[in-house]
Amino acid sequence: MAKNNFIFAVVITVSSTLFFIEAFKNSRNFITRDLSTSQNARGSQLTMMARKPIIAGNWKMNPVDFGEALDLAEKLAASSKTMADDVEFVVIPPHPFLVPVKEKLEGSKIKLGAQNAFTEDKGAYTGAVSTPMLKSVGVEYILAGHSERRTIFKDDDSAVGRKVTKILKDGMTPILCVGELKEEFEEGLVEQVCGLQLSKDLRGVTADEMRKIVIAYEPVWAIGTGLTATPEIAQSVHAFIRKWIEKKYGKEVAEEVRIQYGGSVTPETVDELMACPDIDGALVGGASLAADKFSRIMSYKKL
Ligand code: 13P
Repeated sequence: MAKNNFIFAVVITVSSTLFFIEAFKNSRNFITRDLSTSQNARGSQLTMMARKPIIAGNWKMNPVDFGEALDLAEKLAASSKTMADDVEFVVIPPHPFLVPVKEKLEGSKIKLGAQNAFTEDKGAYTGAVSTPMLKSVGVEYILAGHSERRTIFKDDDSAVGRKVTKILKDGMTPILCVGELKEEFEEGLVEQVCGLQLSKDLRGVTADEMRKIVIAYEPVWAIGTGLTATPEIAQSVHAFIRKWIEKKYGKEVAEEVRIQYGGSVTPETVDELMACPDIDGALVGGASLAADKFSRIMSYKKL
């Protein structure tokens, strides 16, 4: 009898200790996010759910040389090994480099993204690349609506919307880029422009699909210009985007969606941007082409 009581007491002690350890770990996750939210006090409410930050490097049409691309991928793969597990990393090389870059990333913490895809699976579409093709080589993220696609290649909102739906349907994650032109920023039209892009590009997207999408706010005037939006400007637009999602899909979905900032992000600006409560990541262009710079951005400091 005494032996049974002893075993019973041991079981109770061990399970309650495990329970408290788990509860402590969970509360720390919330506290970290809540603290960073309140310390910033830049106008957003407490975040109820921790969103995993996502840092992505959009190589655009760079580098020209295959060897350089491999060298960059190899350096990033090596440096990612010592980086945080609670941040997601993605590189988005040009199509010809996807497969060899993927090989270099094997065993690292970096995932593969693609810059563009067409909405048909296969057929007579010269120059196009389809979502199943990209999936079959290990692509997990695809950009849609990047401002360079919108302006140079005339991707309109209906094409962007179809792309978003197709990427989701084929089990990958769209990174939907929205953002205003310089004149629109100066005219105070940021919310109208981003709101309209979101309405058109997310037409027909369900709440469950919305949870999976990553939004990138990329003010066009800040792309490749060295003019980064201040953390205050970026945070206010991110808060607007989250509110927009909340109105359409409800608070729970809005709290889950990750919103990246893109536009001249550098090692010097990333820490302050990432400290903003509604900024959940960075979409980096120029600075993602230098291994040391992008490594520093990937290991941004949590202020
Ligand atoms: P830059 O970082 O070169 O400004 O480019 C941003 C961008 O367009 C990422 O998609």
